Order: sequence, then structure tokens, then C-alpha cells
Amino acid sequence: MGEEELAIERKTLKIKVTENKLTENEILAKAFMFFLAGYETSATTLSFLSYELAMAPDIQQRLYDEIVVNLDENTGEMDYDKLATLPYLDAVVSETLRMHSPAQSMPRVCSVEYALGNTGVVIPAGQNIDIPIYALHHCAEFYPEPFKFDPDRFLGENKRKVKPYTYLPFGAGPRNCIGMRFSLLEIKLGLAHIMKHYRFTTCPLTDRPIQYKRMLRIGAPQRMILGIEKRNL
Ligand code: HEM
Repeated sequence: MGEEELAIERKTLKIKVTENKLTENEILAKAFMFFLAGYETSATTLSFLSYELAMAPDIQQRLYDEIVVNLDENTGEMDYDKLATLPYLDAVVSETLRMHSPAQSMPRVCSVEYALGNTGVVIPAGQNIDIPIYALHHCAEFYPEPFKFDPDRFLGENKRKVKPYTYLPFGAGPRNCIGMRFSLLEIKLGLAHIMKHYRFTTCPLTDRPIQYKRMLRIGAPQRMILGIEKRNL
């Protein structure tokens, strides 16, 4: 490579390095996203889950029974591989994410003009689109009695009947949630540990129904007041 070409190469590299550098604002934005996407979503899911279990003692008992029979006989701990296979635990978490999806809509920008089948609707390139996760999850056509907490919707054969793209707690496509597996594990593990020792109950201050608060794009409760009782093992 001649001197002139080398100079161009160096210049190009320098430009690339400068372009790849994050600004202070970008670093702050990413750090904020880590907390919002990585922490708040799982924490609110666990809150809603505790609420639904307190409101439905029969479901709570069924889940407790599944968890305790699968604890390791010697250590009393929950094995990771087992945890991921417990069907009722999975159904309860899925139903919580349907009813109280932390992400209530999914924003996209249309990259190329797109005709929606034969509806006559043409979405122009550059158009902002919001996919309404909350509305899809509460549509009676896809989920009969949508405001009823019913984990059986996600059990066995019923789970296979869920229509594609009507269940989107983690989004869909190439930009879906990168933390999905981690958060499901975190939620299940956290819940199994708590449920081993405690029972959730309602109390006079428990909100019925729960009130949501507006928090950026995350669906969170206004407040969550529940009772908790120690189990006699
Ligand atoms: C219950 C827990 C969680 C829920 C419901 C959730 C939901 C979502 C949703 C709906 C999206 C947008 C997907 C789309 O537009 O298609 C998303 C994106 C994202 N999530 Fe999560 N999330 C959860 C936990 C986590 C955790 C634990 C992490 C990190 C450890 C995480 C990191 C991210 C990141 C980085 C993105 C952006 C991905 C991209 O733009 O390519 N999330 N999440």
C-alpha cells in the first residue's frame, strides 16, 4: 500500500472510530434503558403475579403444589432445568404477562411502502406505527373473558391454540426482547423461592381492580398492597 493510500486508510479508520464513540448522552440513555428494560419490567411482572395469586387462592395452591413436589429432596432447592419445565408455573407467568404486559404497545417505523392485504390500506414509508399489545391481549376474539386471570389458556393444547402475534409481551421480529429467557428464569426462580416459604393474601387495602399508573411506556400498578403469610413447613 502506497503512502497516499495509507493516509486515506488512516483517515477513514479515524472517522470510523470517532463515529463509533458513544456520546455522554447516549451512555446515559443506555444506562437508563438497562434499568427500565432489564429491571422494571421483571419487577412489575412479579408484583402483578403476586397480586393475581393473592386474588385467586386456588390457583396459588395449585402452583405451590407444583413447585414443592419439584424441589430437590436433599437440598430443598429448585433445579434450573426442572424450573424451566414446570407447566403450571409457565402458564401462570404467561397469563400474568398477557393481562399485565409491562410493554403496552410496540413502536415501529415503516421502512418501505406496504399495502395491507386487500384492505386498501397502504402504509407509507417513514410512517410511525404502534402495535397495540394491551388491546391484542385483551381482545375477546383471541382471549375469551379477557379480564379473567386464567392460566389454563397457556396449558397444554390451549397454548398451541394461541394465534401467532396475538401474544406479544416480549415483542416480535429481529428487535424483540433480548432479555426474554433471562427474565422468565429470573421471575420463575424468584417466585419459586418466595412461594416455598410464604403465601400471598389480600387485605382491606388491596385495590380491586388494580389501578395502573402511566410510567413512560411501562404498565405499572399505582400501588400494590397485599398481605403475606409465612407457611408452616
Ligand atoms: C418481563 C420482563 C420483560 C419484558 C416484558 C420485556 C419486554 C420487552 C419488549 C416488548 C421489548 C420491545 C420488543 C419489540 O419491539 O419487538 C423489549 C426490548 C428489549 N428488552 Fe426487554 N423485556 C423484559 C425483560 C428484559 C430484560 C431482563 C432485559 C435485559 C437483561 C431486557 C432487555 C431488552 C432490550 C435491550 C431491548 C431492546 C432490544 C432491541 O431494540 O433490539 N428486557 N423488551
